[in-house]
Amino acid sequence: KRKMFAASRVFSTAAKRSFSTSAANLSKVAVVGAAGGIGQPLSLLLKENPHVTHLSLYDIVNTPGVAADLSHINTNSKVTGHTAENNGIEAALKDAHLVVIPAGVPRKPGMTRDDLFNTNASIVRDIATAAAKHCPNAHFLIISNPVNSTVPIFAETMKKAGVFNPKRLYGVTTLDVVRASRFVSEVKSLDPKDVNVTVIGGHSGVTIVPLLSQTGLEFTKEELDALTHRIQFGGDEVVQAKNGTGSATLSMAFAGARFANSVLEATVGGKKNVVEPSFVQSDIFAAEGVEYFSTNVTLGPEGVEKIHAVGQVTDYEKELISKAVPELKKNIAKGNAFAQ
Ligand code: NAD
Ligand code: LMR
Repeated sequence: KRKMFAASRVFSTAAKRSFSTSAANLSKVAVVGAAGGIGQPLSLLLKENPHVTHLSLYDIVNTPGVAADLSHINTNSKVTGHTAENNGIEAALKDAHLVVIPAGVPRKPGMTRDDLFNTNASIVRDIATAAAKHCPNAHFLIISNPVNSTVPIFAETMKKAGVFNPKRLYGVTTLDVVRASRFVSEVKSLDPKDVNVTVIGGHSGVTIVPLLSQTGLEFTKEELDALTHRIQFGGDEVVQAKNGTGSATLSMAFAGARFANSVLEATVGGKKNVVEPSFVQSDIFAAEGVEYFSTNVTLGPEGVEKIHAVGQVTDYEKELISKAVPELKKNIAKGNAFAQ
């Protein structure tokens, strides 16, 4: 009897495993803005991701070519390319588990991210309208700038359609922690893989707040000033170097693929304690009228599982936060007003 029980237990474990494998395989990932500077390398990195079963590329132009090219890579996912003439955004989004959105125009030298608002706000609103219709339960990763405003626009549009899930809307701020890790490691002659920097706030200039005191490393006042400025304005370095041809695309693709992978690991990969920073609906500064804020979050099967507290900060960092909060409040209000 004991043997039979043991055998049935083995069977049921195997059956469970095979069930969870097939469930874990059902992850269609859509990239909206897939033919662009970020979209193409990001799609390449996602083609390598074992959690992705169907990579669905949408853009207003050129996705059939990008999809044909990527579809020759011998990893186990199907690739489809969509434009208005190729089954449209409906086919691109239908049944998507995760949607990454790098659609919209990038900066040129002399511009702030807020200067992109006029063009990108309506692009993001229209994508949110389509998403609310075709894949309301997906996880949405917003890369399009200005993130501080496009996330509220996406949220308000989903709310209007009655399908907003705050656990599944993420402003992608991963590039800020990727940069911070690299810049600090350069100053301290360390391997960046050993340097984790918590960055909180939003994704533009003074709203980007690195908490260098939480790294456990020592910094002089000069190092603190220089590193803080470089992390806050790292995007400008790339915009200036690209001299009118765009902003960060390759490092952003790397950061976007890292964040997408973390969401996939937590939602379909069964991984526990997946922690990433993200600009999400948050109570942390709600009393100051700031509805969205980036801190580390623990990701779980349903999306955002736990929003981490800011933790201990120095007076220097308190001062940075006090400059970030009013600017964030303004950016969020602008997004909310647009979506009304
Ligand atoms: P890009 O111009 O190279 O590509 C953007 C793509 O979006 C283009 O292929 C364009 O055809 C497409 N597009 C425009 N309207 C669209 C729509 N309605 N639907 C679908 N696709 C549409 O620009 P990029 O360098 O890839 O940057 C894209 C966005 O990402 C910019 O707003 C940029 O500021 C932002 N960005 C954000 C971060 C971040 O950390 N969150 C980092 C870098 C860039
Ligand atoms: C970045 O941080 O590189 C992006 O937000 C693009 C930009 O405009 O700087």
